[in-house]
Amino acid sequence: MFPFKKRLNNVEIDKSRLPAHIAIIMDGNGRWAKRRGMPRNIGHREGTNALRRIVHKCNDIGIKYLTVYAFSTENWNRPQSEVNTLMDLLYEFLKNADKEIAGRNVRIRVIGDDYRLTDKIKEEIARVQETTKSNDGMNLIIALNYGGRSDIVHAVRNIAEQIKSGEIKPEEICEDTIEQKLYTYGIPDPDLLIRTSGEQRTSNFLIWQLAYTEFWFTKTLWPDFKEEHLFEAILNYQNRDRRYGGV
Ligand code: FPP
Repeated sequence: MFPFKKRLNNVEIDKSRLPAHIAIIMDGNGRWAKRRGMPRNIGHREGTNALRRIVHKCNDIGIKYLTVYAFSTENWNRPQSEVNTLMDLLYEFLKNADKEIAGRNVRIRVIGDDYRLTDKIKEEIARVQETTKSNDGMNLIIALNYGGRSDIVHAVRNIAEQIKSGEIKPEEICEDTIEQKLYTYGIPDPDLLIRTSGEQRTSNFLIWQLAYTEFWFTKTLWPDFKEEHLFEAILNYQNRDRRYGGV
């Protein structure tokens, strides 16, 4: 264990070649709780604590963008009590963000459809986005009621409106046209995607934006995810050869 940890020491990471944007699918909260004979809600609470740790660490080492999948468009299918817990944790997270996170110069943004969110959460999102908008350290992007397909549908509708009003012609549509209408407009595509808990799929997360992203999977459950796992993922990323379809 010790040599492994030592190898993953911060010093080993090449700070000049950090991924600018890390995206994380924080999976395994439920299993973490189940293994301890606890209710799933406790797993989500521990998952929120893991998120706080990782936000601080990413900010400390100089990651520019961190996007986390907090709640997918499919997560509404979970039992109402679990949905309520996740929404309560999100609300609490945003409410405390000023002192815990934004005070470290982090800008917080939320992406996703807001139509099913309560007014209370929508107001908190608007407040946090407004109060942190001038922070020029790390960007923390929270995907909430987010789905990659929904992101694209939303973009297509926007473009269709522009065509209808004569603002653009169909033949003028290019990749940039679509990108400009995605929730992530202005944010560079993720360089590295981390998914915890052993699952190896994208689950409708940033499906357009992940086109050339490097994927890193770990069996570690999200509440157990720590600095050493983050460093392992970054080290692994730094040893890859990104060719973007070239040679
Ligand atoms: C997956 O674990 C995790 C989620 C569906 C939500 C992730 C949410 C958090 C980490 C906490 C809330 C977020 C914020 C931003 C405060 P799972 O429940 O699918 O785990 P399982 O696959 O083991 O059942």
